[in-house]
Amino acid sequence: MSPFRLTRTLPEDATGAALRADVRAGLTGSPKTLPPKWFYDARGSELFEEITALPEYYPTRAEREILLARSDEIAAASGARTLVELGSGSSEKTRHLIAALHGLHTYVPVDVSESALTGAGQALAAERPGLRVHALVADFTAGLTLPDTPGPRLVAFLGGTIGNLLPAERSAFLASVRSLLAPGDALLLGTDLVKDEKTLVRAYDDAAGVTASFNKNVLNVVDRELGADFDPDAFDHVALWDAEHEWIEMRLRSRTAQSVKIPALELVVDFAEGEELRTEVSAKFRQEGVRAELSAAGLDLTRWWTDGEGRFALSLSVAR
Ligand code: SAH
Ligand code: AVI
Repeated sequence: MSPFRLTRTLPEDATGAALRADVRAGLTGSPKTLPPKWFYDARGSELFEEITALPEYYPTRAEREILLARSDEIAAASGARTLVELGSGSSEKTRHLIAALHGLHTYVPVDVSESALTGAGQALAAERPGLRVHALVADFTAGLTLPDTPGPRLVAFLGGTIGNLLPAERSAFLASVRSLLAPGDALLLGTDLVKDEKTLVRAYDDAAGVTASFNKNVLNVVDRELGADFDPDAFDHVALWDAEHEWIEMRLRSRTAQSVKIPALELVVDFAEGEELRTEVSAKFRQEGVRAELSAAGLDLTRWWTDGEGRFALSLSVAR
């Protein structure tokens, strides 16, 4: 068994304070919004894992196909001794990369979901003797301090999670990733690609209703953490393609006119019948856009791989 260590980088109530601030800002604004990071309590992380196995949800399978085919090349190009993974979740696909990185000293999975980190970290530490696993419970948009471990460093951001950031958040995020890297260090980035609307919408509105439960889970989180009285059944799951922004939007549509109490904020939020609350964007990308966004952050795209059906891309970029 190799060492597993978990660090909470946030002060005791920082998560609660951030949730209160996000819920107040998002539910008093117009249109109403909530940031997607609040989906991922233990139940939300489980629901996401169920989504990854759905027949309609192709991104995980497509990215796994690329990682299986390309991990040796990625390992050779990066020579990483430290692998940092942002939004690592179950770390399931990352196993292929870890197996290929023969000189790896430390794996640093970073996630807001402590339950996902604990499960994944312990499994990996048991699987790969000698590998140090130093998990960080942290918000990757809030400025990270990484443990002092040997370089070269490879930062992986898989799953297409970058698409869950709005464009301005993306550029700030990429600049902060660049600041974690020394010149020559690399970023491995997973991006879902623009494709036909039907395939995209089906991936976010599956027949079994798992994505609907995942979407509504954010209401359970607000109920539990802030004492609110959201009834998830009083909302419908909505997934639509925004062709102008090239992103999928998930929303929750109020079935009736209703008032929701949020005692921890001393707030009552009114919903009109049919009013929608945006819970997530999931942007889809094209190669030139990814290259330009990386370059603006000081990262040069050097490799671009897609799965056999051209649905998803993994790119490797190097810090200038
Ligand atoms: N990388 C995995 C999981 C993707 S799901 C995969 O490809 O399958 C997105 C993950 O990012 C979840 O585990 C979620 O808890 C985490 N996450 C979302 N927003 C985050 C944030 N702001 N900071 C840290 N982790 C975040
Ligand atoms: C984590 N992220 C990349 C997922 C996505 O596809 O945008 C989250 C998700 N939302 C609905 N289904 C999956």
